[in-house]
Amino acid sequence: MSTFRPVELTLAAVSAETPDAVTLAFNDPAGELAGYLPGQFLTLNVAVGGKQHRRSYSLCSAPGLDAHPTVCVKRVPGGLVSNELVDNWKAGQTMQLFTPIGNFVCEPKPGARRHIVLVGAGSGITPLWSIAKSILTHEPGSQVSLIYGNRREDCIIFSEPIRQWQAQHPARFRVVHALTQPPAGWQGATGRIHGAMVVDLLRHLEPLQDVEETRYYLCGPQAMADDVEQALLGTGVVRRNIFRESFFSDSQVNHQETVEVGGAQAAAGGEGPFSVTIKHDGDTYEVEVPLGETILQAALDQDIDLPYSCQAGLCTACRAKCLSGAVEMDETEGLVESEIREGYVLLCVGHPKSAGIVVEVG
Ligand SMILES: Cc1cc2nc3c(=O)[nH]c(=O)nc-3n(C[C@H](O)[C@H](O)[C@H](O)COP(=O)(O)OP(=O)(O)OC[C@H]3O[C@@H](n4cnc5c(N)ncnc54)[C@H](O)[C@@H]3O)c2cc1C
Ligand code: FES
Repeated sequence: MSTFRPVELTLAAVSAETPDAVTLAFNDPAGELAGYLPGQFLTLNVAVGGKQHRRSYSLCSAPGLDAHPTVCVKRVPGGLVSNELVDNWKAGQTMQLFTPIGNFVCEPKPGARRHIVLVGAGSGITPLWSIAKSILTHEPGSQVSLIYGNRREDCIIFSEPIRQWQAQHPARFRVVHALTQPPAGWQGATGRIHGAMVVDLLRHLEPLQDVEETRYYLCGPQAMADDVEQALLGTGVVRRNIFRESFFSDSQVNHQETVEVGGAQAAAGGEGPFSVTIKHDGDTYEVEVPLGETILQAALDQDIDLPYSCQAGLCTACRAKCLSGAVEMDETEGLVESEIREGYVLLCVGHPKSAGIVVEVG
């Protein structure tokens, strides 16, 4: 059975977190979302203007710790779904959503002694907060450091729970807030989070006890994650210990990348239109992809039920392995280098660039 399946859940509570963010807590009596990992996200299917729209929202609740699976949605100016959720959704309403997925996870290992460094901005706190609570609870030998950027003090999501968890774990949970519009007398960091700032702050956040390894989880705008990652690499951190998730692609066509498998030659100009063979859940489909369209969109237009969430090349719900042929991606943020080398592609931003393409979803 596919791990990405629709369920219908009722909202147990909707509460204002900041002036422009709400938390949505779901009733899940049958445990449909049970087994999710800290850092994973849900895909909500929300009707706006008579049409269903899917959007990804990270779980900010910690599995086994918080009573309800919970997401926190921050308003994006002009955004279709975030404004609908912040303004109109109430406890008691039922929503269709898709079961948790995502690779931006940090699974607690009870005997481990690690330093888990979390760097986030704005709504990027959501998966980091699930990870922080899980590690502090289930990894008693580990330390957690959170560097969290916002515009103003009243924009800090989970400000009060963060303060409470700090009070409970003063030696194991250290937090630095950074504000771009700090109030007079502000004691935290000032300005947007950037690489040099993080490297500098980490000098003061050295673990108080011996640790076996340090892992870095970055969640915020792509530009912030790029800058912080480069700065960490510059200090000798190895890439495999840096994990990142972006909620929004800085540019529609950021990193065009062609994944070519089996020596297939892109046709003259590589334009097509080409037909693509898609294997999914034991079925095989032939999909004619019109020029300029993505493979996912062409499949959905033919009523082929494929997994997808963000449709922006960020979340990997639509990941597929390219078994032959050449696929060009508009965005590769969701994939790590090794996945690209192994031939994985994201169908929501993937365009066929040769004949004979076969992709297997999963
Ligand atoms: C894996 C993943 C997890 C996510 N988790 C969360 C979460 O926990 N909480 C949360 O609030 N959001 C989260 N997001 C973002 C969320 O899925 C939506 O993209 C966001 O709510 C905007 O949707 P919208 O329909 O309101 O905007 P849209 O109607 O899709 O977009 C409207 C306009 O705003 C721009 N835009 C879209 N998103 C952003 C953004 N984040 N910043 C700046 N401009 C933007 C678009 O380019 C467009 O021009 C996550 C995204 C991903 C991929
Ligand atoms: S649907 Fe999110 S990466 Fe394709």
